Amino acid sequence: MSDTMHPDSPAEGTMTDQQQQQPEPPADESGQSPEVADAAPASRLTELASGHTSAPTEGRETVFALDDVTVSYNGIPAIRNVNLNIHRNLVTAFIGPSGCGKTTLLRSFNRLNDLIPGAAVDGTITYHGYDLNGDDVDPVEVRRRIGMVFQRPNPFPKSIYDNVAFGPRLHGMKDDLDARVERALTHAALWDEVKDRLKQSGLSLSGGQQQRLCIARALAVEPDVLLMDEPASALDPISTQAIEDLTESLKQEYTIVIVTHNMQQAARVADVTAFYSVDVAEGGGRCGVLVEHGPTSELFIRPSDPRTEAYVTGRFG
Ligand SMILES: Nc1ncnc2c1ncn2[C@@H]1O[C@H](COP(=O)(O)OP(=O)(O)O)[C@@H](O)[C@H]1O
Ligand SMILES: [Mg+2]
Repeated sequence: MSDTMHPDSPAEGTMTDQQQQQPEPPADESGQSPEVADAAPASRLTELASGHTSAPTEGRETVFALDDVTVSYNGIPAIRNVNLNIHRNLVTAFIGPSGCGKTTLLRSFNRLNDLIPGAAVDGTITYHGYDLNGDDVDPVEVRRRIGMVFQRPNPFPKSIYDNVAFGPRLHGMKDDLDARVERALTHAALWDEVKDRLKQSGLSLSGGQQQRLCIARALAVEPDVLLMDEPASALDPISTQAIEDLTESLKQEYTIVIVTHNMQQAARVADVTAFYSVDVAEGGGRCGVLVEHGPTSELFIRPSDPRTEAYVTGRFG
């Protein structure tokens, strides 16, 4: 069966269509949302955060510039008036309580909200100075340059090789596909574990390996940016560590934006952190807002807003 005829292959050939339609993971068995702030002692967080430079963005190119960005569903804003720059070769973490619009905002970075009926993005997002939502911009090319990794590992029901080769084939990057697949798997720190079984199904791998396979799949089309939406939240601690280590090495070549509900993770991996919260209007309407962003070492140690302080010290709900 050819790739394009595979019943589980995405229609129109954008891998993101299929990934996009994944349901949000359920709350855990305790009935709590998995995005409750973890109860790390504040001292541990400040210790981790102090490992980062206090001027990470200095001299770095701006990759994304968000100017008054509001994302709405069916006319109701889910996150509003975000002003934020993302800098090259840094890890930027998005933290904040469940429902504050982290995923919604992240999806606007590679036009995945285009695929959601009723979703609308207002304001301006420039990517290397170009209007990302401009009429002349091809969203498929946008998603090649700006890859995404989701909360639940979601390999295609194909071989390990074909998972990684999927994007290059789709984009006509067929020159020396074997080398490209090997390079992507090596960058994703998975090559040594799978090089002798490339024909096995991607679904035969462990959860942590599957997530690295998804990272390799994103890297295979030579992106510039990697968006990661809670990439380790479904993984065990060792696999989580592997993803964190990978983030550290990948930032040498890529710009990374990572959503995490785990503040220790943000304090460990992120150079810059953005904290979001939910504003409750008088009429009860809830909307996400960017409270503050800055060097991780500042945000965790000297937050400038009391809402950030409450969240990072675990006093938040
Ligand atoms: N596809 C969608 N359609 C309508 N509303 C949505 C959709 N996705 C998210 N929302 C709403 O937008 C708000 C922000 O959600 P989300 O971006 O998932 O937050 P977070 O990732 O911070 O938990 C929530 O109120 C959520 O219910
Ligand atoms: Mg989310």
